[in-house]
Amino acid sequence: MLPKFLLVAAARPNFMKIAPIWHELKKHLDRCEPLLVHTGQHYDKNMSDVFFEELGLPRPHVHLGIGAGSHAEQAGQVMIAFEKVCQELKPALVVVVGDVNSTLACSITAKKLWIPVAHVEAGLRSRDWTMPEEINRLVTDAISDLLLTPSRDADENLAREGVAPERVRLVGNVMIDSLALAVDRVRDRDVPSRFGLAKGSYGLVTLHRPSNVDDPASLRRIFDALLAVEAPIVFPVHPRTHKILEAHGIGAGADRAPHPVHLAGPMPYDDFVNLTLNARFVLTDSGGIQEETTWLGIPCLTLRPNTERPITVTEGTNELATLASLPGQLARITAGQWKQGRIPDLWDGRAAERIAAALLELAG
Ligand code: UD1
Repeated sequence: MLPKFLLVAAARPNFMKIAPIWHELKKHLDRCEPLLVHTGQHYDKNMSDVFFEELGLPRPHVHLGIGAGSHAEQAGQVMIAFEKVCQELKPALVVVVGDVNSTLACSITAKKLWIPVAHVEAGLRSRDWTMPEEINRLVTDAISDLLLTPSRDADENLAREGVAPERVRLVGNVMIDSLALAVDRVRDRDVPSRFGLAKGSYGLVTLHRPSNVDDPASLRRIFDALLAVEAPIVFPVHPRTHKILEAHGIGAGADRAPHPVHLAGPMPYDDFVNLTLNARFVLTDSGGIQEETTWLGIPCLTLRPNTERPITVTEGTNELATLASLPGQLARITAGQWKQGRIPDLWDGRAAERIAAALLELAG
Protein backbone atom coordinates (compact mmCIF):
# COMPACT_ATOMS: atom_id res chain seq x y z
CA MET A 1 0.00 0.00 0.00
CA LEU A 2 1.29 3.46 -0.91
CA PRO A 3 1.80 6.05 1.84
CA LYS A 4 -1.13 8.44 2.09
CA PHE A 5 -0.35 12.17 2.20
CA LEU A 6 -3.22 14.25 3.61
CA LEU A 7 -3.17 17.78 2.21
CA VAL A 8 -5.19 20.15 4.41
CA ALA A 9 -6.99 23.08 2.80
CA ALA A 10 -9.26 25.28 4.86
CA ALA A 11 -9.56 28.93 3.94
CA ARG A 12 -9.25 31.03 0.81
CA PRO A 13 -5.50 31.74 0.99
CA ASN A 14 -4.76 28.03 1.43
CA PHE A 15 -6.17 26.90 -1.90
CA MET A 16 -3.54 28.56 -4.11
CA LYS A 17 -0.81 27.06 -1.90
CA ILE A 18 -2.23 23.52 -1.87
CA ALA A 19 -3.03 23.36 -5.61
CA PRO A 20 0.54 23.32 -6.99
CA ILE A 21 1.58 20.73 -4.38
CA TRP A 22 -1.42 18.57 -5.29
CA HIS A 23 -0.63 18.71 -9.00
CA GLU A 24 3.05 17.94 -8.40
CA LEU A 25 2.31 14.95 -6.14
CA LYS A 26 -0.06 13.58 -8.80
CA LYS A 27 3.08 13.07 -10.93
CA HIS A 28 4.38 10.64 -8.28
CA LEU A 29 1.44 8.26 -7.87
CA ASP A 30 3.88 5.37 -7.88
CA ARG A 31 5.28 6.68 -4.59
CA CYS A 32 2.36 8.22 -2.68
CA GLU A 33 -1.40 8.59 -2.54
CA PRO A 34 -2.25 12.30 -2.11
CA LEU A 35 -5.68 13.04 -0.57
CA LEU A 36 -7.32 16.43 -0.08
CA VAL A 37 -9.00 17.35 3.19
CA HIS A 38 -11.15 20.52 3.31
CA THR A 39 -11.93 21.59 6.85
CA GLY A 40 -14.72 23.93 5.67
CA GLN A 41 -13.36 27.01 7.50
CA HIS A 42 -14.32 28.94 4.35
CA TYR A 43 -17.52 27.60 2.87
CA ASP A 44 -19.18 30.21 0.61
CA LYS A 45 -19.03 29.38 -3.10
CA ASN A 46 -16.92 32.47 -3.79
CA MET A 47 -14.59 31.84 -0.84
CA SER A 48 -14.00 28.18 -1.68
CA ASP A 49 -15.64 26.24 -4.57
CA VAL A 50 -14.68 28.78 -7.24
CA PHE A 51 -11.02 28.39 -6.27
CA PHE A 52 -11.19 24.61 -6.55
CA GLU A 53 -12.56 24.96 -10.08
CA GLU A 54 -10.04 27.59 -11.21
CA LEU A 55 -7.05 25.81 -9.70
CA GLY A 56 -8.02 22.43 -11.13
CA LEU A 57 -8.47 20.83 -7.71
CA PRO A 58 -10.79 17.82 -7.43
CA ARG A 59 -13.63 17.59 -4.92
CA PRO A 60 -11.96 17.05 -1.55
CA HIS A 61 -11.61 13.43 -0.50
CA VAL A 62 -12.90 14.47 2.92
CA HIS A 63 -14.89 17.61 3.81
CA LEU A 64 -15.11 18.29 7.55
CA GLY A 65 -17.79 20.98 7.11
CA ILE A 66 -16.75 22.96 10.19
CA GLY A 67 -17.60 26.55 9.14
CA ALA A 68 -17.49 29.66 11.30
CA GLY A 69 -17.11 30.03 15.06
CA SER A 70 -14.92 31.55 17.74
CA HIS A 71 -11.26 30.59 17.58
CA ALA A 72 -11.67 27.85 20.18
CA GLU A 73 -14.87 26.52 18.61
CA GLN A 74 -13.38 26.46 15.13
CA ALA A 75 -10.06 24.88 16.17
CA GLY A 76 -11.76 22.47 18.57
CA GLN A 77 -14.26 21.22 16.02
CA VAL A 78 -11.58 20.79 13.36
CA MET A 79 -9.46 18.79 15.83
CA ILE A 80 -12.32 16.47 16.77
CA ALA A 81 -13.28 15.82 13.15
CA PHE A 82 -9.72 15.57 11.80
CA GLU A 83 -8.69 13.08 14.51
CA LYS A 84 -11.33 10.65 13.23
CA VAL A 85 -10.10 11.12 9.65
CA CYS A 86 -6.50 10.42 10.67
CA GLN A 87 -7.50 7.33 12.64
CA GLU A 88 -9.44 5.98 9.69
CA LEU A 89 -7.05 6.83 6.84
CA LYS A 90 -3.78 6.33 8.74
CA PRO A 91 -1.78 8.81 6.65
CA ALA A 92 2.00 8.62 6.44
CA LEU A 93 2.15 12.41 6.44
CA VAL A 94 -0.05 15.46 7.02
CA VAL A 95 0.73 18.62 5.04
CA VAL A 96 -0.55 21.96 6.36
CA VAL A 97 -0.08 25.38 4.76
CA GLY A 98 -0.14 28.97 5.94
CA ASP A 99 -1.34 30.24 9.30
CA VAL A 100 -5.10 29.86 9.63
CA ASN A 101 -6.92 28.22 12.55
CA SER A 102 -7.22 24.93 10.66
CA THR A 103 -3.43 24.86 10.13
CA LEU A 104 -2.93 24.91 13.88
CA ALA A 105 -5.76 22.46 14.61
CA CYS A 106 -4.68 19.82 12.08
CA SER A 107 -0.98 19.99 12.95
CA ILE A 108 -1.67 19.45 16.66
CA THR A 109 -4.09 16.61 15.97
CA ALA A 110 -1.74 14.76 13.64
CA LYS A 111 1.29 15.22 15.84
CA LYS A 112 -0.49 13.77 18.88
CA LEU A 113 -1.27 10.69 16.80
CA TRP A 114 2.48 10.44 15.96
CA ILE A 115 1.83 11.29 12.32
CA PRO A 116 4.66 13.38 10.79
CA VAL A 117 3.63 16.93 9.87
CA ALA A 118 5.05 19.16 7.14
CA HIS A 119 4.33 22.91 7.34
CA VAL A 120 4.45 24.86 4.10
CA GLU A 121 5.18 28.59 4.56
CA ALA A 122 6.98 27.97 7.85
CA GLY A 123 9.09 30.50 9.73
CA LEU A 124 7.20 33.74 8.98
CA ARG A 125 6.91 35.99 12.04
CA SER A 126 5.22 39.35 12.62
CA ARG A 127 6.24 39.27 16.32
CA ASP A 128 2.75 40.61 17.00
CA TRP A 129 1.09 38.19 19.41
CA THR A 130 -2.24 40.00 19.14
CA MET A 131 -2.61 38.45 15.65
CA PRO A 132 -4.30 35.04 15.80
CA GLU A 133 -2.18 33.99 12.82
CA GLU A 134 1.06 34.61 14.75
CA ILE A 135 -0.03 32.16 17.45
CA ASN A 136 -0.97 29.66 14.74
CA ARG A 137 2.45 30.07 13.09
CA LEU A 138 4.41 29.69 16.33
CA VAL A 139 2.57 26.58 17.48
CA THR A 140 2.56 24.88 14.09
CA ASP A 141 6.28 25.49 13.58
CA ALA A 142 7.12 24.33 17.10
CA ILE A 143 5.65 20.87 16.50
CA SER A 144 6.06 20.22 12.75
CA ASP A 145 8.66 17.72 11.59
CA LEU A 146 9.47 19.45 8.32
CA LEU A 147 9.48 23.25 8.02
CA LEU A 148 9.29 24.33 4.38
CA THR A 149 10.19 28.01 4.17
CA PRO A 150 9.48 30.63 1.48
CA SER A 151 12.48 32.92 2.06
CA ARG A 152 15.75 33.29 4.00
CA ASP A 153 14.26 35.57 6.66
CA ALA A 154 12.00 32.65 7.65
CA ASP A 155 15.06 30.40 8.04
CA GLU A 156 16.68 33.06 10.21
CA ASN A 157 13.59 33.31 12.44
CA LEU A 158 13.58 29.55 12.96
CA ALA A 159 17.33 29.46 13.69
CA ARG A 160 16.84 32.24 16.28
CA GLU A 161 14.15 30.09 17.93
CA GLY A 162 16.61 27.22 18.19
CA VAL A 163 15.08 24.99 15.51
CA ALA A 164 17.54 22.36 14.27
CA PRO A 165 18.56 23.09 10.67
CA GLU A 166 17.74 19.49 9.60
CA ARG A 167 14.04 20.28 10.12
CA VAL A 168 14.16 23.33 7.83
CA ARG A 169 14.14 23.36 4.02
CA LEU A 170 14.12 26.56 1.97
CA VAL A 171 11.79 25.80 -0.94
CA GLY A 172 10.54 29.23 -2.05
CA ASN A 173 7.07 30.66 -2.31
CA VAL A 174 4.53 28.12 -3.53
CA MET A 175 1.74 30.70 -3.90
CA ILE A 176 3.79 32.22 -6.71
CA ASP A 177 3.51 28.90 -8.60
CA SER A 178 -0.26 29.46 -8.76
CA LEU A 179 0.08 33.16 -9.49
CA ALA A 180 2.43 32.64 -12.43
CA LEU A 181 -0.04 30.21 -14.04
CA ALA A 182 -2.98 32.54 -13.37
CA VAL A 183 -1.21 35.52 -14.93
CA ASP A 184 -0.72 33.52 -18.14
CA ARG A 185 -4.43 32.59 -18.11
CA VAL A 186 -5.85 36.05 -17.48
CA ARG A 187 -3.41 38.58 -18.90
CA ASP A 188 -5.69 39.45 -21.84
CA ARG A 189 -8.90 39.84 -19.83
CA ASP A 190 -10.28 43.25 -18.89
CA VAL A 191 -11.89 42.94 -15.45
CA PRO A 192 -11.51 46.70 -14.63
CA SER A 193 -13.93 47.51 -17.49
CA ARG A 194 -16.71 45.80 -15.49
CA PHE A 195 -16.40 48.73 -13.10
CA GLY A 196 -16.16 51.24 -15.97
CA LEU A 197 -12.44 51.70 -15.24
CA ALA A 198 -9.40 51.84 -17.49
CA LYS A 199 -6.41 49.58 -16.84
CA GLY A 200 -3.83 51.27 -14.63
CA SER A 201 -6.24 53.98 -13.41
CA TYR A 202 -7.49 52.67 -10.07
CA GLY A 203 -6.52 51.45 -6.62
CA LEU A 204 -7.43 47.93 -5.49
CA VAL A 205 -8.33 47.53 -1.81
CA THR A 206 -8.78 44.47 0.42
CA LEU A 207 -9.29 44.57 4.18
CA HIS A 208 -10.25 41.79 6.55
CA ARG A 209 -7.92 41.84 9.59
CA PRO A 210 -9.89 41.99 12.85
CA SER A 211 -7.66 44.91 13.95
CA ASN A 212 -8.85 46.99 10.97
CA VAL A 213 -12.43 45.90 10.42
CA ASP A 214 -14.01 44.52 13.60
CA ASP A 215 -14.33 47.94 15.25
CA PRO A 216 -16.89 49.99 13.23
CA ALA A 217 -15.22 53.29 14.18
CA SER A 218 -11.89 52.08 12.80
CA LEU A 219 -13.50 50.77 9.62
CA ARG A 220 -15.35 54.06 9.13
CA ARG A 221 -12.09 56.02 9.44
CA ILE A 222 -10.46 53.77 6.87
CA PHE A 223 -13.41 54.13 4.53
CA ASP A 224 -13.32 57.92 4.82
CA ALA A 225 -9.62 57.77 3.90
CA LEU A 226 -10.48 55.69 0.82
CA LEU A 227 -13.02 58.30 -0.29
CA ALA A 228 -10.33 60.97 0.03
CA VAL A 229 -7.98 59.15 -2.37
CA GLU A 230 -7.91 60.99 -5.71
CA ALA A 231 -8.44 57.86 -7.77
CA PRO A 232 -11.28 55.42 -8.22
CA ILE A 233 -11.11 52.33 -6.05
CA VAL A 234 -12.25 48.75 -6.43
CA PHE A 235 -12.89 47.04 -3.10
CA PRO A 236 -13.85 43.34 -3.17
CA VAL A 237 -15.25 42.85 0.30
CA HIS A 238 -14.47 39.86 2.55
CA PRO A 239 -17.53 38.41 4.40
CA ARG A 240 -16.09 39.49 7.75
CA THR A 241 -15.79 43.11 6.55
CA HIS A 242 -19.15 42.97 4.77
CA LYS A 243 -20.94 42.22 8.03
CA ILE A 244 -19.57 45.38 9.69
CA LEU A 245 -20.05 47.63 6.63
CA GLU A 246 -23.65 46.54 6.34
CA ALA A 247 -24.54 46.67 10.03
CA HIS A 248 -23.26 50.23 10.33
CA GLY A 249 -24.22 51.63 6.92
CA ILE A 250 -20.58 52.35 6.08
CA GLY A 251 -19.85 52.89 2.37
CA ALA A 252 -23.44 53.41 1.21
CA GLY A 253 -23.44 55.49 -1.99
CA ALA A 254 -19.64 55.39 -2.23
CA ASP A 255 -19.81 54.32 -5.88
CA ARG A 256 -21.34 57.74 -6.71
CA ALA A 257 -18.68 59.77 -4.83
CA PRO A 258 -16.39 62.14 -6.83
CA HIS A 259 -13.66 59.50 -6.52
CA PRO A 260 -15.86 56.44 -6.33
CA VAL A 261 -15.25 53.35 -4.22
CA HIS A 262 -16.77 50.37 -6.07
CA LEU A 263 -17.74 47.65 -3.60
CA ALA A 264 -17.93 44.07 -4.86
CA GLY A 265 -18.30 40.63 -3.32
CA PRO A 266 -15.33 38.28 -2.87
CA MET A 267 -13.71 37.75 -6.28
CA PRO A 268 -12.79 34.53 -8.03
CA TYR A 269 -9.00 34.09 -8.14
CA ASP A 270 -8.53 34.75 -11.87
CA ASP A 271 -10.56 37.97 -11.79
CA PHE A 272 -8.69 39.17 -8.74
CA VAL A 273 -5.31 38.47 -10.33
CA ASN A 274 -6.41 40.46 -13.39
CA LEU A 275 -7.54 43.35 -11.17
CA THR A 276 -4.20 43.26 -9.35
CA LEU A 277 -1.97 43.26 -12.38
CA ASN A 278 -3.89 46.20 -13.86
CA ALA A 279 -4.01 48.28 -10.66
CA ARG A 280 -2.16 51.57 -10.17
CA PHE A 281 -1.64 50.52 -6.55
CA VAL A 282 -2.96 48.05 -4.01
CA LEU A 283 -3.95 48.83 -0.42
CA THR A 284 -4.37 45.72 1.72
CA ASP A 285 -3.99 44.03 5.09
CA SER A 286 -3.65 40.57 3.53
CA GLY A 287 -0.44 38.55 3.82
CA GLY A 288 -0.56 36.89 0.42
CA ILE A 289 -1.34 40.03 -1.53
CA GLN A 290 1.85 41.67 -0.23
CA GLU A 291 3.71 38.81 -1.93
CA GLU A 292 1.66 38.80 -5.13
CA THR A 293 2.18 42.55 -5.69
CA THR A 294 5.92 42.14 -5.10
CA TRP A 295 6.07 39.44 -7.75
CA LEU A 296 3.98 41.53 -10.16
CA GLY A 297 5.88 44.77 -9.43
CA ILE A 298 2.73 46.67 -8.39
CA PRO A 299 3.04 49.31 -5.59
CA CYS A 300 1.54 47.89 -2.38
CA LEU A 301 0.53 49.70 0.81
CA THR A 302 -0.05 47.41 3.78
CA LEU A 303 -2.38 48.91 6.35
CA ARG A 304 -0.78 47.22 9.36
CA PRO A 305 1.87 48.15 11.94
CA ASN A 306 3.98 45.10 11.05
CA THR A 307 4.34 42.29 8.55
CA GLU A 308 5.40 38.66 8.79
CA ARG A 309 6.60 39.09 5.20
CA PRO A 310 9.36 41.73 5.57
CA ILE A 311 11.04 40.60 2.36
CA THR A 312 8.18 42.28 0.45
CA VAL A 313 9.36 45.56 2.02
CA THR A 314 13.14 45.07 1.84
CA GLU A 315 13.17 43.54 -1.66
CA GLY A 316 9.69 44.07 -3.07
CA THR A 317 7.21 46.85 -3.77
CA ASN A 318 5.52 46.88 -0.36
CA GLU A 319 5.48 49.57 2.37
CA LEU A 320 3.67 49.51 5.70
CA ALA A 321 1.09 52.29 6.03
CA THR A 322 -1.06 54.10 8.57
CA LEU A 323 -4.00 56.38 7.85
CA ALA A 324 -1.64 59.30 8.56
CA SER A 325 1.10 58.12 6.18
CA LEU A 326 -1.28 57.15 3.37
CA PRO A 327 -1.67 60.53 1.57
CA GLY A 328 2.10 61.03 1.26
CA GLN A 329 2.62 57.48 0.04
CA LEU A 330 -0.15 57.79 -2.55
CA ALA A 331 1.38 61.06 -3.77
CA ARG A 332 4.69 59.27 -4.35
CA ILE A 333 2.91 56.56 -6.33
CA THR A 334 1.10 59.13 -8.48
CA ALA A 335 4.37 60.99 -9.08
CA GLY A 336 5.96 57.75 -10.27
CA GLN A 337 8.43 57.78 -7.37
CA TRP A 338 7.68 54.32 -5.99
CA LYS A 339 10.47 51.76 -5.67
CA GLN A 340 10.81 49.12 -8.42
CA GLY A 341 11.57 46.15 -6.19
CA ARG A 342 12.89 42.76 -7.26
CA ILE A 343 11.52 39.23 -7.16
CA PRO A 344 12.94 37.35 -4.14
CA ASP A 345 15.03 34.23 -4.69
CA LEU A 346 13.10 31.02 -5.32
CA TRP A 347 9.83 32.79 -6.05
CA ASP A 348 10.23 31.17 -9.44
CA GLY A 349 7.04 29.17 -9.99
CA ARG A 350 8.80 25.89 -9.13
CA ALA A 351 8.41 25.73 -5.35
CA ALA A 352 5.95 22.82 -5.55
CA GLU A 353 8.59 20.64 -7.24
CA ARG A 354 10.95 21.25 -4.33
CA ILE A 355 8.15 20.70 -1.80
CA ALA A 356 7.07 17.40 -3.37
CA ALA A 357 10.68 16.18 -3.37
CA ALA A 358 11.03 17.03 0.32
CA LEU A 359 7.71 15.35 1.21
CA LEU A 360 8.61 12.16 -0.64
CA GLU A 361 11.99 12.12 1.09
CA LEU A 362 10.33 12.59 4.52
CA ALA A 363 7.91 9.71 3.87
CA GLY A 364 10.90 7.53 2.91
C1 UD1 B 1 -9.26 33.65 7.99
C2 UD1 B 1 -7.88 33.50 8.61
C3 UD1 B 1 -6.95 34.60 8.10
C4 UD1 B 1 -6.95 34.67 6.60
C5 UD1 B 1 -8.39 34.84 6.12
C6 UD1 B 1 -8.46 34.93 4.63
C7 UD1 B 1 -7.73 32.61 10.89
C8 UD1 B 1 -7.50 32.97 12.31
N1 UD1 B 1 -7.91 33.62 10.06
O1 UD1 B 1 -9.83 34.85 8.52
O2 UD1 B 1 -5.64 34.32 8.54
O3 UD1 B 1 -6.16 35.77 6.18
O4 UD1 B 1 -9.14 33.71 6.58
O5 UD1 B 1 -9.76 35.16 4.20
O6 UD1 B 1 -7.77 31.44 10.57
N2 UD1 B 1 -17.38 33.76 6.50
C9 UD1 B 1 -18.37 33.67 5.57
N3 UD1 B 1 -18.18 32.84 4.51
C10 UD1 B 1 -17.05 32.11 4.35
C11 UD1 B 1 -16.03 32.23 5.30
C12 UD1 B 1 -16.21 33.07 6.38
O7 UD1 B 1 -19.42 34.30 5.67
O8 UD1 B 1 -16.95 31.36 3.37
C13 UD1 B 1 -17.58 34.62 7.67
C14 UD1 B 1 -17.64 33.78 8.93
O9 UD1 B 1 -18.95 33.46 9.21
C15 UD1 B 1 -17.04 34.67 9.96
C16 UD1 B 1 -16.12 35.59 9.19
O10 UD1 B 1 -16.44 35.45 7.80
O11 UD1 B 1 -17.99 35.44 10.60
C17 UD1 B 1 -14.68 35.28 9.44
O12 UD1 B 1 -14.34 33.97 9.01
P1 UD1 B 1 -13.12 33.18 9.72
O13 UD1 B 1 -12.82 31.93 8.98
O14 UD1 B 1 -13.36 33.07 11.17
O15 UD1 B 1 -11.89 34.15 9.62
P2 UD1 B 1 -11.40 35.13 8.45
O16 UD1 B 1 -11.62 36.50 8.91
O17 UD1 B 1 -11.92 34.70 7.12
